[in-house]
Amino acid sequence: MWEFQLPTKIIFGRGSIDRVWENVDKKKVLLVTGKSGFREQTARKIRKQLGSAEIAVYDKVEPNPTYQNVDEGVELVSDARSQMIIALGGGSVIDAAKLIALLAVNEGDAYDYAFRGKKIERKGLPLLAIPTTAGTGSEVTPFAVISDKEKKLKAPVRNRYLFPKVAVVDPQLTASMPKELTANTGADALAHALEALWSKKAGPITDYLALRAVKIIFENLKKACDEPQNIEVREEMSLASLLGGMAISNAWTGPAHAISYPFTTHFGVAHGNACSLTLPEVMEFNALKSEKINRITQLYGPEKLRELFKGVGLKTKLSEVGVKKEDIPVILEGVVASTLETNMVKMEKGDIEALLNKIL
Ligand SMILES: [Fe+2]
Repeated sequence: MWEFQLPTKIIFGRGSIDRVWENVDKKKVLLVTGKSGFREQTARKIRKQLGSAEIAVYDKVEPNPTYQNVDEGVELVSDARSQMIIALGGGSVIDAAKLIALLAVNEGDAYDYAFRGKKIERKGLPLLAIPTTAGTGSEVTPFAVISDKEKKLKAPVRNRYLFPKVAVVDPQLTASMPKELTANTGADALAHALEALWSKKAGPITDYLALRAVKIIFENLKKACDEPQNIEVREEMSLASLLGGMAISNAWTGPAHAISYPFTTHFGVAHGNACSLTLPEVMEFNALKSEKINRITQLYGPEKLRELFKGVGLKTKLSEVGVKKEDIPVILEGVVASTLETNMVKMEKGDIEALLNKIL
């Protein structure tokens, strides 16, 4: 038995950014974004389309968005009486916007939901998400990951009300990504696809989506890094990111994500690389114990993964990101248990320790 839910309307393709207006039926809109010249250009395009709508802007979302970012955004929503949210940016912006949309309607602050387990009672404001990277898939997932930078915490909020109402995926918006960001976000997409495959929540639909995404990424990630202006390749990567996002929307992520959070919070490793660090070892661990994973491993094995990551300049050893043997307890402490649980093979603390020791 399996189920699959995806309430988000998806508009995909070059030029889809020109169709934002068709999906905006409110007069007061909050645009959530981060700082970037290219985004400003796109934001101007959106403004032009929306004509007479009143558009308030929250543009202070940081990479690895904080609970403070969300609370500031919510304050703006109430000041501007916004009726819907448009998110323009990478996963950080979309995640923050998801919680802003939700908290505009639900009581409490972002900290309650991210770190105190408060239950979400009501559907939030409608959210239209426009990704400017190809990797997070956040435009089609019911998750938002929020950080407390003082306490070095990072945790996912999961709820069906976090699905955006509309996702506008225009691959042209990703063409200005520098190589490092292309590599990082592409590795994140690959982590999503693989982790969806080895999740206990996987079903035939998430498997199809994920396998297709893995194939596309193996064939296109290096090219996307080497030929940034090749729009066909960018389109493939945007599609893979979307498919990976759709796969985890129902199958969730797994060990590589669970272990990735302390790499980011304590050592500043970008999310995609933080996930890709352990991905080959997690695959090896799972392949030993699962026939299905074993089959996938024969096609896209751990060696091929390492080769791909090295080829696009990602770090594959803990020493390269400043993590030493004596830091392993800190990493183990920061592993997010609820994300680890979805792995089809039970992974104990000792298994993670052994795995980390292999990549010192
Ligand atoms: Fe991710």
